[in-house]
Amino acid sequence: MDKIVINGGKRLRGDVKISGSKNAALPILIATLLTDGKCVIDNVPELEDINTVVALLKHLGKKIKKEKNKITITANGKLQTDAPYKLVSKMRASVLVAGPLLARFKKAEIPLPGGCAIGIRPINIHLDGLAKLGAKYFVSGGNVKIFAKKLNGTKIILDFPSVGATENLLMTATIIKGKTVIKNAATEPEITDLANFLVKIGADIKGIGTKTLEINGVKKLKGWPDGYEIIPDRIETGTFIVASSLTLGNINISNAIFEHNESLIEKVKLAGAKILMLNGILRVVGPKKIKPVDAETQVYPGFATDLQPLWMALMSIASGKSVITETIFENRLQAVAEFLKMGADIKIKGNTAIVKGVKNLTGAKVVASDLRAAAALILAGLSAKGKTEITGLEYLDRGYENIVRKLEKLGADIKRVIDN
Ligand code: EPZ
Repeated sequence: MDKIVINGGKRLRGDVKISGSKNAALPILIATLLTDGKCVIDNVPELEDINTVVALLKHLGKKIKKEKNKITITANGKLQTDAPYKLVSKMRASVLVAGPLLARFKKAEIPLPGGCAIGIRPINIHLDGLAKLGAKYFVSGGNVKIFAKKLNGTKIILDFPSVGATENLLMTATIIKGKTVIKNAATEPEITDLANFLVKIGADIKGIGTKTLEINGVKKLKGWPDGYEIIPDRIETGTFIVASSLTLGNINISNAIFEHNESLIEKVKLAGAKILMLNGILRVVGPKKIKPVDAETQVYPGFATDLQPLWMALMSIASGKSVITETIFENRLQAVAEFLKMGADIKIKGNTAIVKGVKNLTGAKVVASDLRAAAALILAGLSAKGKTEITGLEYLDRGYENIVRKLEKLGADIKRVIDN
């Protein structure tokens, strides 16, 4: 097992390039199940989750060629319609294969993904939407079996703008008969990226980027051999914005999309950071004194839930009290227990954390509970006095491409070593 060892207190300086978005790459790779045409996807980050989705596509019958950040998917005979437990349990985004397989073969069998550290993560909104399109489903032995005699477009109003449910239903609607209108759809940039890819391979989608998606089903979708470039990862961008803000840093972030991080940028400016977008480079200068700023997670374009633990790291050394409220997941304040080991002063009341900033955190041995908590603990370690050791890196490897190397290049004293 590995651990990350950080000697805190170094100011980050220099340049960092943001990798492709994990949460855009996953649905786009899965969307290739909708077509037998050859698809080339560029700017795919090298991550554990990407390896899992590649294994899943291979299991289902696709031929995959992976060259660093480029993945080529081609047909290789008939597709299977069942996703294996070991892959779905590793990555819940595997449930996104349900829609494409159902749309093409009128059946799909997916193990229920189960929960994770941040919540029980049900898929009722996915299944209710598929049922509206004409599917039937039942759960047996931990699997959900979905099937349909015929699927017809219709109006679907999502109870909650679920990112995954929007993606699953959007993909399904592209090749079934008739017009589907998805209301109260999620509008995260990753959904826009998926919709733009689907249009490239021949889908008829209107309202991209809005809460109402209108899809006219087409008979067949084609490939996209010219190469589709995945958008940059806005959560990685946010991670480096916070990293510079809490280390009195001065960094240049390239390949970031300013509007994908506007809510965070507003907040770090209120906290005292200087942020400037110049010739495509996002310059982030951290403040001498970090002002306390409240945050409440919302769906896009509100403050991203994935940045909530990172914000907590910043606020734990602010010059005053702030209130951080998590409204998207029911159990996403787990990083607090680890911040307390580092000397933070945080109290939890329900889904709200009351953070009283301390002068500085002190290094400690801490354990990550999920992907973004792992990132938040790294940031806390960068600013803490003394040595921090972080385990639970299997979560980190799922979602950040070379984050240790990127931070080292920015001057952090950070190493990844075997934890014996
Ligand atoms: C996506 O998860 C992201 N994952 C998450 O990122 C992100 O935190 C989340 O969207 C919210 O932005 C990927 O894109 C692979 P949801 P998803 O469906 O689609 C409830 C990361 O760190 N819900 O919008 O699962 C659900 O329990 C990960 O990269 C239902 O109740 O998110 C949650 O409370 C973590 N029923 C809320 O909605 C459903 O059928 C938001 O979930 C679906 C969701």
